[in-house]
Amino acid sequence: MEFIVKSGTPEKQRSGCIVVGVFESRKLSVVAQQIDAVSGGTISGILRRGDLEGRPGQTLLLHNIPSLPSERVLLIGCGKEKEFNENRYRDATAKAVTVLKDIGATEVTSYLTELDVKGRDISWKVRQAVEVTEAALYRFDQLKSKPDNSRRALRRMVLAVPKRSDLGPGEQAIREGRAVADGVKLARDLGNLPGNLCTPAYLAEQATEIGKQYGLKTTVLERDDMEKLGMGALLSVSRGSRQPPKLIVLEYLGGKEGEPPVALVGKGLTFDAGGISIKPAANMDEMKYDMCGGASVLGAVKAAAELKLPINIVGIIPSSENLPDGDANKPGDIVTSMSGQTVEVLNTDAEGRLILSDALTYAERYKPAVVIDIATLTGACVIALGAHASGLLANNEQLAREILGAGKYTHDRAWQLPLWEDYQKQLDSNFADMANIGGREAGTITAACFLARYTKNFKWAHLDIAGTAWKTGKEKGATGRPVPLLVQYLINRARHDGAEAAA
Ligand code: BES
Ligand code: MN
Ligand code: ZN
Repeated sequence: MEFIVKSGTPEKQRSGCIVVGVFESRKLSVVAQQIDAVSGGTISGILRRGDLEGRPGQTLLLHNIPSLPSERVLLIGCGKEKEFNENRYRDATAKAVTVLKDIGATEVTSYLTELDVKGRDISWKVRQAVEVTEAALYRFDQLKSKPDNSRRALRRMVLAVPKRSDLGPGEQAIREGRAVADGVKLARDLGNLPGNLCTPAYLAEQATEIGKQYGLKTTVLERDDMEKLGMGALLSVSRGSRQPPKLIVLEYLGGKEGEPPVALVGKGLTFDAGGISIKPAANMDEMKYDMCGGASVLGAVKAAAELKLPINIVGIIPSSENLPDGDANKPGDIVTSMSGQTVEVLNTDAEGRLILSDALTYAERYKPAVVIDIATLTGACVIALGAHASGLLANNEQLAREILGAGKYTHDRAWQLPLWEDYQKQLDSNFADMANIGGREAGTITAACFLARYTKNFKWAHLDIAGTAWKTGKEKGATGRPVPLLVQYLINRARHDGAEAAA
């Protein structure tokens, strides 16, 4: 889909449909007032008859407005003007797209971008419009034998900006929004693909494909390589699977030569049955999304390459299945990780931290400026934070703050949990350096405590995305989070590094 920015009043636009906001108590937005004025009070007349109050979620489609060159006007209820905020703006945009899709509109002009959102400028609004629109248009029908092509598709959206001087920033916002939306789409597609298709080998192929497209160096470590490196933790998880494990490495070098990279390490567990500590049958199908950390790394690296960000990035994705088998990890098994630390596997379902531990040790060789790992790591995180915030734990407060800030800006938020040493003793083992589980209490924190034992040599943050990467229920499917957060972090970092270089 194509997005363009334009400045100009609605009576001069010739468009299939013009989208404008109406606040509660039938209060017209500035643009709705303009349309009302040129059409001799048509809009206010219709509203007076009681067809639209302006509550959030309400919509009204109007045809043949006098003196307006556009065919249709879509009114979107925006709620109380004083309460109009980021959430309302995003909801109004998504609602508009849902209606436009239903009526088969092909090209539209949205004036929602001209509504005031407290504390947000035009760049933010344009970016969000692009990201929310693409997300609302997303469908995953590649595995249906007869895709639904009954409606015409939205092809072109003009985003209105109030001033001519907004056009430049608006265009940049479209570029960034596009890159983020494409990264999100990639992550969603991979998350939605079932385990029989999205295997570790498939993820490696996808990474290689992205590498070719953008000229990145892609390396895939095979089982032999892992054995040579002593990756006993990662290898132990894959022992129960017929699919060979892969350690996927993707290097984007947009920064200065030799500049330490940002390392993104994503859990790529393509199906998590729990292993011998097998999971209950209900909803087990959803455990195909246990590779969404890895998918978000692919999405973020792709977006960074698309935007040609002037920084270096290395993406590292340990990938495996976790299945029960005669050769699988057994409770009580002790494995030796690449770092030399030994782990007692008390629960084979706590496999994410095992594969990540070796990947984090491997990350050290890139002498990274910072390391961020992203993982659908604990069910406890879903209980603690639900679907709204990713869990964030870090051994460096500045890094944590930067990640929280990036999440806030993109509305892909994270919430920090403590990583106090006090929790570490929950991982004590009688037989090895540590156990791979820490009991019922504070499950998200003890999982991070486990990873912390592998990240002492660099600045590190961990994002637990078990609650945010996937939606359950009627709209079941992958969300593409936290690609927006990651890309924003990288954009901010590129800006910052650039400023430092100039100074
Ligand atoms: N992939 C799961 C975590 C998960 C659970 C993600 C639910 C999304 C939704 C992870 O491998 C796992 O099984 N974790 C266990 C850890 C436990 C055994 C300490 C969990 O959370 O139950
Ligand atoms: Mn598991
Ligand atoms: Zn898992």
